[in-house]
Amino acid sequence: MCGIIAYIGKHRAAPIIVEGLKRLEYRGYDSAGLAAQQNGRLVVIKKAGRVDRLAQEEAEHPLSATSGIGHTRWATHGAVTDANAHPHLSSDGKFALIHNGVIENYAQMKTFLLGKGFTFKSETDTEVLCNLIAYHYAKEDAAAGPSVRFLESVRKTLRHVEGTYGIAALCVEAPNEIVAARKASPLILGVGEAEYLIASDASALVGRTQNVVYLKDGEIVHLTPKAFTITTLDQADVSPVMDRITWSVADAELGTYEHFMEKEIFEQPLALENSMRGRFSEDGSTAQFGGLNLTAGDFAQVDRFMFCACGSAWHACLVAEHLIERFARLPVEVDYASEFRYRNSPLGRSTLFFVMSQSGETIDTLAALREAKRKGYRVLAINNSVGSTIARESDGGIFQHVGPEIGVASTKAFTSQLMIGAMVALYVARMRDMSFADGVQYVNALKGAPDLVRRVLAQAPHIRDIARRYAASSDFLFLGRLSLFPIALEGALKLKEISYIHAEGYPAAEMKHGPIALISEKCPSVVLAPKGELFNKIVSSIQELKARKGPIIAVTTEGSEIPAGLADAVISIPDCHEAVLPIVAAIPVQLLSYYIAVERGCDVDKPRNLAKSVTVE
Ligand code: AGP
Ligand code: GLU
Repeated sequence: MCGIIAYIGKHRAAPIIVEGLKRLEYRGYDSAGLAAQQNGRLVVIKKAGRVDRLAQEEAEHPLSATSGIGHTRWATHGAVTDANAHPHLSSDGKFALIHNGVIENYAQMKTFLLGKGFTFKSETDTEVLCNLIAYHYAKEDAAAGPSVRFLESVRKTLRHVEGTYGIAALCVEAPNEIVAARKASPLILGVGEAEYLIASDASALVGRTQNVVYLKDGEIVHLTPKAFTITTLDQADVSPVMDRITWSVADAELGTYEHFMEKEIFEQPLALENSMRGRFSEDGSTAQFGGLNLTAGDFAQVDRFMFCACGSAWHACLVAEHLIERFARLPVEVDYASEFRYRNSPLGRSTLFFVMSQSGETIDTLAALREAKRKGYRVLAINNSVGSTIARESDGGIFQHVGPEIGVASTKAFTSQLMIGAMVALYVARMRDMSFADGVQYVNALKGAPDLVRRVLAQAPHIRDIARRYAASSDFLFLGRLSLFPIALEGALKLKEISYIHAEGYPAAEMKHGPIALISEKCPSVVLAPKGELFNKIVSSIQELKARKGPIIAVTTEGSEIPAGLADAVISIPDCHEAVLPIVAAIPVQLLSYYIAVERGCDVDKPRNLAKSVTVE
């Protein structure tokens, strides 16, 4: 879950690495460090805390090397300390290593290495790997030369590893070379002008190059300033496949906004347009997808859907479930990816399996995908990262096309997932009982969604005022029904993530079966109360909360009458089609959480303990 960046070329490496680390900080920000060769030895600068501290330190002791490696950590083994920060040096000082992931058998390796006289300065699994490289290097035939020995010692080490890794290493005896490899942790090779970069994330590369090679599991890349070679753990040669990153550096920058989350909330109308572009049939009555790799006939055989995802994407799957069941009348099951992989749930042969993931690198979702494939299912992915592991390993899918999402709290990727779920529901519904006229109405409603979202965004100052009034609360309830129950869950997750306020999402009527015990004048409820057949029932739930002195923030359709005095604050959303409602209703809960976090002085884009992409189990 960390950020990896490595540089080799003609320029001074350290500033390029620091710049890359700043772009990667959303991936993990417990500590940061870099290593490069200086005066014939490997020098490491590393610090617990943010990249700025590292940048300051590097500026005071500049490193002149034209190659180096850098890392931002999301701690798994050992506390957040300078000593546990990466890069790690082998105890003989010959190797520096950065690592993303978890080495599961590190304890056995450590015992072995301690027996061989290696010493350790940190509690990390990474340092074990680094010393193991040094151990193998010492055993390699010196006549082979340092380059070959470097590469082969990394290869041999990785053959012993159980677990996951993205790594990059330096060797003091092979100056101006880098060896990097991956297994279940993303790693991208950037091919620039007379320079190469390695990064765990495209956002660290776009400032220098758009030309990339997405490395695959089990591949090792060996870099010199002039060339690179890719081989496998079994020493087979790999022909690189060049790709291009389609977005630019501006997409990964803040611009005039204060936070990425704010920028991404306000980008949603455009993001929704991008997710829809080219995806409606010419007659305007259904959706079409280029990359499903399934014929309409294949789709017609499907009698059940299974969706797996984590976090916000899981909430988006719950909305897709509602819409597919409602409009296509087919059963849908949604599971947490982390549970599915161990649950061994029975799936019918005509089940179509979807995974949903913004990053395409979430390890639990990837494992669910692999488990479904192992059982012989075709797996489709709804995903925002071209070139990601999930994109590569799925049998087909739908790209979200919303550009990089940097804020740790998902916003534009979430509403885009809602949009794509709604389009999948339409596509299946039109193959079954939905009429042409209803299809056209549905399509027009989806096309109108960006404008409706703009209307809600225009209420940002009003929502900010409400946020100010309730920012000091320590508990919140979010209530919604049907397709807005997942939005209630999402609202609670957003608030927890970035404001550290305890929040729970519930179906509104379920609240009286327990959570109502929390209600007091200190526990506000955000109640999603759109007009519709359940409106009066939701108003009854509000009455029950009010009777217990709970403050109410109601999100309701323009023109709906919440009885006077019942709600303490009202946020209006435009009247809209059922398929669009969850998208429109998501905006107020995002803005509310964002402004509450700002009000509380929280670090919105880098909330404590979290990282953008969860690549460890
Ligand atoms: C959302 O705000 C979260 N940070 C998190 O729940 C996220 O949605 C989850 O980790 C899944 O990520 P993915 O979509 O990249 O797989
Ligand atoms: N397991 C390593 C550690 O705890 C790497 C963590 C990461 O991915 O940042 O340091």
